[in-house]
Amino acid sequence: ASGCKIGPSILNSDLANLGAECLRMLDSGANYLHLDVMDGHFVPNITFGHPVVESLPKQLGQDPFFDMHMMVSRPEQWVKPMAVAGANQYTFHLEATENPGALIKDIREKGMKVGLAIKPGATVEYLAPWANQIDMALVMTVEPGFGGQKFMEDMMPKVHWLRTQFPSLDIEVDGGVGPDTIHKCAEAGANMIVSGSAIMRSDDPRSVINLLRNVCSE
Ligand code: DX5
Ligand code: ZN
Repeated sequence: ASGCKIGPSILNSDLANLGAECLRMLDSGANYLHLDVMDGHFVPNITFGHPVVESLPKQLGQDPFFDMHMMVSRPEQWVKPMAVAGANQYTFHLEATENPGALIKDIREKGMKVGLAIKPGATVEYLAPWANQIDMALVMTVEPGFGGQKFMEDMMPKVHWLRTQFPSLDIEVDGGVGPDTIHKCAEAGANMIVSGSAIMRSDDPRSVINLLRNVCSE
């Protein structure tokens, strides 16, 4: 896809130095930051919430695009706090809400872009009815909860189907994406690329980010 964007996930970074880690990613050419919010209920892990997000812009001395990946059971609850904290996109899981339409509307009213995520077990038909109302679809390529898991290649038909049906939709992949798997994502039509451990564990994040973007944009 042309104009692929790379959004490092800071989940597996040195979280006690979150500001420095975010800056390291931005200095290495990241297009946006993918921030993983986990509540210990929707997924078996806990990370951080809006107070941490709110502290970031001052620390960074800039306002990067924050894509909030909300792995939480009650996504309705955090729309306003995240908007106030400076989030730019609110990506919630379709599995976590009974009224996606109302949530989409609320996110827009609070001035954020709308991302809609599905776990590996969900079909793409489940997401399709909402595709015309959202800015981005997130096709998870691992079970959400932890970084460093193996990429699920069998999710690629979902990406491909969405790309065919909704040519202008942003499509994000998240989980196990790195230099070894980016080709599959690019071929299927993803244009927003989340990558955590592949970037974080590299001594040279800039070249990994460049490589991912170049392969994806081919
Ligand atoms: C997993 C998170 C991902 C994760 C990606 O639940 O949503 O964003 O941090 O990390 P890697 O790229 O290591 O799979
Ligand atoms: Zn994520």
